[in-house]
Amino acid sequence: MTLADRSLVTIDDLSNGEIEGLFSLTDGMSESMSDQFGVCRGKIMASLFFEPSTRTRLSFETAMHRLGGDVISAVDIKGSSLAKGESIADMAKIVGSYADIIVIRHPWEGAAKIVANYAGVPVINAGDGSHEHPTQTLCDLYTIKKERGTIKGLKIALWGDLKHGRTIHSLIYALARFGATILFHPGPGFELPEHVIRKLTTEYEGELKKYEALEQLTAGATFPLDAIYMTPVSPHQLAMMPDVSIQVEMEKGVDALYITRRQTERLSALPEGQDITDDYPIVNKELLNRKAFKKTLVMHPLPRVDELAHELDADPRSMYFKQAARGVPIRMALLSLLLGVKDISISAEGNSSINKSDYPVYSRDTGISCSNPKCVSIQKTEVKYITPEFKIVNDNPLTLRCIYCEHEIQPKYIASADWHEGRLNSKKYHSASSHWARIIKPENLIIFDSESVAKTHGFKPSHYTESEQHISGTEKIINEE
Ligand code: NCD
Repeated sequence: MTLADRSLVTIDDLSNGEIEGLFSLTDGMSESMSDQFGVCRGKIMASLFFEPSTRTRLSFETAMHRLGGDVISAVDIKGSSLAKGESIADMAKIVGSYADIIVIRHPWEGAAKIVANYAGVPVINAGDGSHEHPTQTLCDLYTIKKERGTIKGLKIALWGDLKHGRTIHSLIYALARFGATILFHPGPGFELPEHVIRKLTTEYEGELKKYEALEQLTAGATFPLDAIYMTPVSPHQLAMMPDVSIQVEMEKGVDALYITRRQTERLSALPEGQDITDDYPIVNKELLNRKAFKKTLVMHPLPRVDELAHELDADPRSMYFKQAARGVPIRMALLSLLLGVKDISISAEGNSSINKSDYPVYSRDTGISCSNPKCVSIQKTEVKYITPEFKIVNDNPLTLRCIYCEHEIQPKYIASADWHEGRLNSKKYHSASSHWARIIKPENLIIFDSESVAKTHGFKPSHYTESEQHISGTEKIINEE
């Protein structure tokens, strides 16, 4: 099967079967590194890194050099025309006309998707803000598979900055898809974002048990745990598992402990009185002496700061330098697949695992925009050509997920495009929390941020703009006609 001309923006752009196929190709390439020279002869990779990077950029560039291809690069926004106010779409078109493949890291969430939409060549997301970092996940999964032979059924603990860590977000989705149990232990204030939790529990259909229920159970226990995610392999297993057996399970040992640094560059002001050094998890020799970690792989995407002690570097359980080293053959395999110079064979079953939830899409131009200040779709240089687009992921409460950064918003007012039916007086807007959110068909839905915008569009308030209690029976019948 060919992966030619595909882009890798989120980890869900690859099915489990494709990831397995890529890993087999990686195995082959690592075994005969010197034979790979020339595989990508004549191809050019553009390496655009608009945020600091050591491992990701240099391993991509090394990979292309080892394949015999060439590299062009831009490593600083200030050194490119983006600094002059050029849009990402224009940059993508230009670079796409020079290079055969583009690797991009950018601080705005959704930036890689825009590049993929406009470049006309395959694009690889090397990190877009706090959103995703799919190729780091390939390094992480490959390491777990190499060391443990499988991912299914393993207990993987994720510690540290679960809020801003893009490596964490991509890894969570992949672990869920491969059937691992995930144990969460964030630093205080660094908990998983709501939109990631929703995706995990609705699209991957597993069960998340949160801190509140586990608090007593884990207080003073050998394994700190704030939430646990069980995969759909056995969806009701956890619900049926008495709390006490969760701790027994934990005591049996954790297969991998993945820690990340605080993403200080992404922090907005901390709540008053909170110090970022307060209670942030630290992995050191003392911790690893505990029974639960006896055979645990210690993983970190690097760079580390204070959360991972240097005293562990020589410990055979430490995997972080191996994770980084494996980045070269993995990225060699990925580049040659997307450039179409290699292909893989995968089973139909392996290919069915991509998460493709079929939500209705909202893309009307009614003034609704993403509320995430880091989203590419609301940036001054980009609003001129990007139409905000959302997936309607829930109708009670009405919830929209931005297709670029995946943050969610819960808009306040709605109306139906099916208002007229010959009667202008039925052109009304309602509260999004009223039953109308469930009645209006997605294709007719019109969403407003505020009453004034609704009025500007010629809509009048219905009796459903406050809450359902204010509605008289007669009004209800008239409106539903
Ligand atoms: C990570 C990143 O950039 O998101 N680094 C990497 O690519 N290996 C993790 C980090 O910066 O903390």
